Amino acid sequence: MPGHPLLRLLRLARPLRAQLLISVLAGAAATGCGVALLAVSGFLLARASLQPPIVAISVAVVAVRGLSVGRGVFRYAERLSSHDAAFRVLADIRVAIYRRLERLAPAGLADFRSGDLLARLFIRGVGPLATAALVGGGVVAACLLILAPAAAVLAAGLLVAGAAVPALAVALSRREARFTAAARGELSTALTDLLSGAADLQAFGAQDGALRAVAAADDRLTALARRSAAAASAGSGLMTAVSGLTVWGVLILGVAAVSAGTLTRVPLAVLALTALAAFEAVTTLPSAALALAGVRASASRISAVLDAPDPVAEPALPRPVPAGPVTVRLRGVQVRYQPDGPLALDGLDLDLSPGRRVGLLGPSGAGKSTVAAVLLRFRDPCGGSVTLGDAPLASYDSDQVRTVIGGCLSDPHIFDATIGENLRLARPEATDEELAGAAGRARLLPWIQSLPQGWDTRVGPGGAAMSGGERQRLALARALLAAPAVVILDEPTAHLDPVARAALTADLLRVTQGQATLLITHDLAGLEQLDEIIVLDQGQVVQRGTHHQLMRTEGRYRQLHAPGS
Ligand SMILES: Nc1ncnc2c1ncn2[C@@H]1O[C@H](COP(=O)(O)OP(=O)(O)OP(=O)(O)O)[C@@H](O)[C@H]1O
Ligand SMILES: [Mg+2]
Repeated sequence: MPGHPLLRLLRLARPLRAQLLISVLAGAAATGCGVALLAVSGFLLARASLQPPIVAISVAVVAVRGLSVGRGVFRYAERLSSHDAAFRVLADIRVAIYRRLERLAPAGLADFRSGDLLARLFIRGVGPLATAALVGGGVVAACLLILAPAAAVLAAGLLVAGAAVPALAVALSRREARFTAAARGELSTALTDLLSGAADLQAFGAQDGALRAVAAADDRLTALARRSAAAASAGSGLMTAVSGLTVWGVLILGVAAVSAGTLTRVPLAVLALTALAAFEAVTTLPSAALALAGVRASASRISAVLDAPDPVAEPALPRPVPAGPVTVRLRGVQVRYQPDGPLALDGLDLDLSPGRRVGLLGPSGAGKSTVAAVLLRFRDPCGGSVTLGDAPLASYDSDQVRTVIGGCLSDPHIFDATIGENLRLARPEATDEELAGAAGRARLLPWIQSLPQGWDTRVGPGGAAMSGGERQRLALARALLAAPAVVILDEPTAHLDPVARAALTADLLRVTQGQATLLITHDLAGLEQLDEIIVLDQGQVVQRGTHHQLMRTEGRYRQLHAPGS
């Protein structure tokens, strides 16, 4: 859905257009009440000074009361509906962005701040513009009825204040608007890096440099904010000057008309006060224009995320995923991470049928995790075929695929929550017994039971309060709890000591018995229990067969087992 980033944001708000229209009308009514209040008050004061009978001004007295109450009520309605609509759209955009990020970087996180953005677009950008147009037009029309030349001066003044001054403010801060969103992103990236990498920075004595980088990013943002504040204040100063000059113009024309006898004194008071009040409708326009300019830059960033090419194509009509045991078949699968990049995987054949366990070996960068990414539908192959059951893997919804094909990725993420919550992520409805069962099979239960707070122990950001091996076992328990039909375990024994490795590998081979399993590993113990071993190198299969077959042939696998290798 390409197009101008701002129009695109507005398109996202289309389902709420009725509500946004209500908020614009209520805003215009509130400002209109304010202008009318001053006009009627002017009439009331001028008329009352002539000491008429009370009946002559009673309508105006009631109108003053009505308008002052109406102004509050309309303003409340406007705020309520515009904020409500903005936050609803915000929620939709957040979900859309999150879905995109999830697809683009399944294991990655991105900082994304759009709350401010949406509030600025709807509440401080579009609303004031519409209000100014409606109220300004109405006021000029009303003044035309009193004195046409004065109405013309007022129209000119409002146009200058509502169009020229905001345009000038935007021109003055064009550079700032363009760079502020990026500078804010830079600062938060630098800060996140500083905080999450604090231990490493300190270990290498690099904390001063990192602090300086944050301070520099902060300075850049502050300088930009200062310059755009200067532009905004120049705008509001000019606004005051224009409104003063316009009221003077209206007064001069009005007084001349009174002297010429074409206008009486009471309408003159109404005219002057109306002109003064009319500027209430345009005073927020310079900051609205600046807000829109800022939103435009942020909207472009959102569009960049939403328009990024999809690493996996979702089917228009996804078929239901098969229940129960199922076979996954890869034939001649090729994967490229960049359109013109090298093949990370080149012609892989693989069968994962119920009960069959396959080991995937190979040096770092061989393409092992890439196989996992294809199976989990984080990435579509550029060649070959992948089928789940009888149908192409691409004909299923990728989220649904991951309920059938699951497991534990290399570098699993542990959330800053309790152990129990981290486990339940895999199956929120799991019973305590199921939780304990999965933790037991991953040999994590004794450790959990030894903790004073047991399942309720918080593990800190990224599982900081756990050892590498405990994190690995927690991730494994999570994979076991989800109980997918096809299990993928990407280096489940990384970070463990040799004894724990051997123990966990033995456990793994025990718990995956009878289950379709892909075991990606650098470990050689227990491989004889697998039905097939595939050795990858630079994306290509260099050897495949059972442990015994491979040990009988000269090749990479036997070299791996050679003493001292
Ligand atoms: N997201 C990515 N973008 C670009 N290239 C990638 C990406 N992920 C992996 N690669 C590249 O694809 C190749 C295969 O990577 P892969 O992660 O599959 O290796 P691996 O066999 O799992 O290695 P390791 O044993 O170190 O985990 C590597 O050359 C790697 O640099
Ligand atoms: Mg890997």
